[in-house]
Amino acid sequence: MGFLSVLGIAHKWIAERTSPGDIVIDATAGGGVDTLALAKLVGPKGKVYAFDIQQEALDRTSARFAAYADAAALPEVKLLLQSHSGMADAVEQDAIGRTAAVMFNLGYLPGGGDLSVITEPASTIAALNAAVTLLRPGGIVTCVLYPGHPGGAEEAAAVEAWAANLPQTLAQAVIYRQPQRPTAPYLVAAEKRQRP
Ligand SMILES: C[S@@+](CC[C@H](N)C(=O)[O-])C[C@H]1O[C@@H](n2cnc3c(N)ncnc32)[C@H](O)[C@@H]1O
Repeated sequence: MGFLSVLGIAHKWIAERTSPGDIVIDATAGGGVDTLALAKLVGPKGKVYAFDIQQEALDRTSARFAAYADAAALPEVKLLLQSHSGMADAVEQDAIGRTAAVMFNLGYLPGGGDLSVITEPASTIAALNAAVTLLRPGGIVTCVLYPGHPGGAEEAAAVEAWAANLPQTLAQAVIYRQPQRPTAPYLVAAEKRQRP
């Protein structure tokens, strides 16, 4: 049968902690696959924020939403052309401490994007800290890491160190990884404590 992929597990863990009407954030919109999945989860009464530093990524995300047949089933989506490191200031007041999930899928924009534009450890860690602040109790942040890409191993190590140093009273962190395949993508996730 095999285990779920890292992205599959990220979506499953998010779905288990998210309900229609919730606020969710895609920290790396890219081609919009994850953004659309998040939008379907929270439905028309929910709200989705999606960040990317490349206009091409937001255009692709926009096109994906426009092509989706059941537009009435989707929520308001705010596409933000800026770094996820500023997410705490970019979202509206109602997202602070009330966000159900924040999803990161690091690396570069695949499918013909500019491969020199990649997520960077400093802004990724700043964004992860902001994400935990925005989460409601029981909310989740997921971060898919790509140690096989140039710069990816250093970024993955920084995210693992961030997770290891999260106060246990604030959040519980886990790693989902195939130890026989050290360069394969893997997942770090943290669930905010019910009573931090
Ligand atoms: C692997 S792709 C994301 C894939 C996407 N979630 C999807 O479903 O297609 C990573 C994206 O992160 C974006 N990115 C890089 N640095 C960023 C930053 N500081 N803030 C937000 N997005 C960033 C890249 O432009 C790229 O589009």
